[in-house]
Amino acid sequence: MIGVLVSGEGSNLQALIDAGLPIAAVASNRPGVRALERAEAAGIPARAFELDRYSDRAARDRELADWLLPRGVDLVVLAGYMHLLTPPFLDRFPDRIVNVHPSMLPAFPGAHAIADALAAGVETTGVTIHFVDEGLDTGAVLRQVPVSVEPRATLVERIHDVEHRLLPEVVRELCAH
Ligand code: GRF
Repeated sequence: MIGVLVSGEGSNLQALIDAGLPIAAVASNRPGVRALERAEAAGIPARAFELDRYSDRAARDRELADWLLPRGVDLVVLAGYMHLLTPPFLDRFPDRIVNVHPSMLPAFPGAHAIADALAAGVETTGVTIHFVDEGLDTGAVLRQVPVSVEPRATLVERIHDVEHRLLPEVVRELCAH
């Protein structure tokens, strides 16, 4: 079963839901976000784990894992999750946490990948699905699809379209293993 971590809009979560993938739980670091509404609308258990309610990030991450594991989660998908994860979480799901990122990693890690690619003047950027470790978008790459920067007016939309196709495809393969 899949656990999905979110922080905001949740369009990638929606793509996973629409693909009929077995999602057992959705957790957010922020309350009241659209992604949690999408989970609830789909009848999936959903909860916010706000950092400021815990003594530190490790304590929050331990409780997050403690909530996911009894729900049968054995694959964690970060779909727009904007916090780094710490060992108390990472160690509970070895080689079973993946993230979707809007660039061709290792190019343009971080929260502003599309803007950074535009500012750098590259002709091609893209989408990466990668394993998650303690670093910022540093884990081993699983799959990448390039996206041409031009026409710029539609770049964000084209990147999201690729994400919404690629993420369910890769997650479906991981579910089979
Ligand atoms: C996506 O572009 C994803 O690659 C990045 O954050 C964005 C999340 O969008 N990590 P959404 O919340 O899935 O709509």
